[in-house]
Amino acid sequence: MTRTVYVNGDYLPEDEAKVSIFDRSFLMADGVYEVTSVLGGKLIDFDGHLARLERSLGELDMQKPEAFDDLLDIHRELVRRNELVDGMIYLQVSRGSAGDRDFVFPDPEEVKPTLVLFTQSKPGLADSPAAKTGIKVISIEDIRWGRRDIKTVQLLYPSMGKMMAKKAGCDDAWMVEDGFVTEGTSNNAYIVKGSKIITRQLSNDILHGITRAAVLRFAREAQMEVEERSFTIDEAKEADEGFVTSASAFVLPVVEIDGVALNGGSPGPVAARLREIYLDESLKSAI
Ligand code: PDD
Repeated sequence: MTRTVYVNGDYLPEDEAKVSIFDRSFLMADGVYEVTSVLGGKLIDFDGHLARLERSLGELDMQKPEAFDDLLDIHRELVRRNELVDGMIYLQVSRGSAGDRDFVFPDPEEVKPTLVLFTQSKPGLADSPAAKTGIKVISIEDIRWGRRDIKTVQLLYPSMGKMMAKKAGCDDAWMVEDGFVTEGTSNNAYIVKGSKIITRQLSNDILHGITRAAVLRFAREAQMEVEERSFTIDEAKEADEGFVTSASAFVLPVVEIDGVALNGGSPGPVAARLREIYLDESLKSAI
């Protein structure tokens, strides 16, 4: 089945979809994105992703695409047309194409944003083997820019981080700044000490994960103790458990950091419980 994608108002077969070579996301990484997971044909945490998209656009003084208010319908239409059961919907908005290369932002009256959405099918997304085995991470320096709270398409360094992890025989990298863990290359990072869940406080240093917000809310509702503060990579290596959260991974246990095993190298009970609660609750409110 050919994938149907969405580009600026049109649903098209993927090989007919086109964006200008002058698009600013292509030339300047002048774009923002969201990834929403789909389970059983339904969208998880859609409102959160839409709210963060609006915030990212505002922080970069980028216009909302004309179809902003139709985004839920567009997501659903893509699910329908692609018969998507489990997977993700990727959405990107860029500042558009001014028909040339220029550092100066184009006049928003003349140049409209580019809006692209496509589906990624991942059958059995919620039953990933990594949830049972856990993942191994390495630590790398965080050399990204200072506005990591904006979900921009500048993903070269996170991509390099994944490659560094792969080369080291691991699955992902935790980025570290001044000794403190910021986040994973494409997820938020947590440790567990005793029964306490510790994750970095929100600021411009990390992405304000939609899954993070939901997981912390569910944890508190389940009377689990949560502490939002920075932790060092050394503290992480001595923790009882580690885990990461993201829209595509949900909650994934971390069983090794820089070759140091956590919880004897097996997924820990807190991560396992949070994953279960997150999936149960999110499915209940999926739309
Ligand atoms: N990444 N931190 C970073 C740097 C991320 O790229 C992501 C998400 C997260 C988790 O945010 P959320 O829970 O809202 O997905 C944290 C997405 C999934 C991606 O780039 O594919």
